[in-house]
Amino acid sequence: MGDISKTRKRKMKGIVLAGGTATRLFPMTATTSKQLLPVYDRQMIFYPLNTLIKAGVKDILVIVAPEHSGQFLNLLGSMFKKHGIHITFEVQSTPRGLAEALTLGENHIGDDNVALILGDNIFEDDFAKQIKEFRGGGHVFAKKVTDPERFGVVRFNKENRAMEIVEKPTTWISDYAVTGLYLYDNSCVQIAKNMKPSERGEVEITDVNKAYLKKKQLEVTLFNGEWLDAGTPESLLEASIIVKEKGISRNFHPVLDQAITEFNEELKIRSKKRLQ
Ligand code: TTP
Repeated sequence: MGDISKTRKRKMKGIVLAGGTATRLFPMTATTSKQLLPVYDRQMIFYPLNTLIKAGVKDILVIVAPEHSGQFLNLLGSMFKKHGIHITFEVQSTPRGLAEALTLGENHIGDDNVALILGDNIFEDDFAKQIKEFRGGGHVFAKKVTDPERFGVVRFNKENRAMEIVEKPTTWISDYAVTGLYLYDNSCVQIAKNMKPSERGEVEITDVNKAYLKKKQLEVTLFNGEWLDAGTPESLLEASIIVKEKGISRNFHPVLDQAITEFNEELKIRSKKRLQ
């Protein structure tokens, strides 16, 4: 008999990074998490969750800061239990960088692959195809920008293989910014474990991407839809306006819509009871 563990198709686990300190949104984030602030008609966290759920990802770890863990549990703890989506939480005691998601998430990832998404990134596009068809290596999603010097940028060849990645380049290499959705095979856990913090004291997701690039295993998907990073007061406001105008929250996966509707009904019942 063959070894089943060697032939089992790896699943795609999900991780949403919803920790951080969100200093650029002070004082709003003195009392709550950035990812729990509203973007148009719902909390920000629902947008990255939607990107994963639309792609059939059913096992999702949400990484949160200790001071906000109760709020996340209140919102998401039971919301999806009837819908076959399993949400778990891990506390990141201090924000040591994006790549820490892969070590904090080691048990969650297990033998599987992972789709890691930043909790403050909103994508209009549907990446279900790339997530479902992912077979190995690393995969990033890049968007053309007019100010590449502000981003981590990627240069790629005709086959959409990454050739070079530079954080905030001072000389031009490409107009394509690497956005906050990353697909990795299981080796990302070892890569992250062996990493050293950067000069700013964080374990950098760029270094994980560079490790795959070095192995010539980093694929790039380009996309044209909206990419909103709601990290500053201006971009948070703009995100609400664009989400409303483009109907992004109206275009959610039915399971998420239903779970949110049920949650709202439950809140109404609870508030009526309180008034009695
Ligand atoms: P950032 O926007 O880089 O950091 P931040 O949210 O702390 O904000 P600021 O720069 O204003 O202080 O983080 C991007 C996303 O990743 C965001 O959704 C928060 C999350 N994050 C973590 O979960 N853990 C971390 O260690 C860091 C650095 C970020």
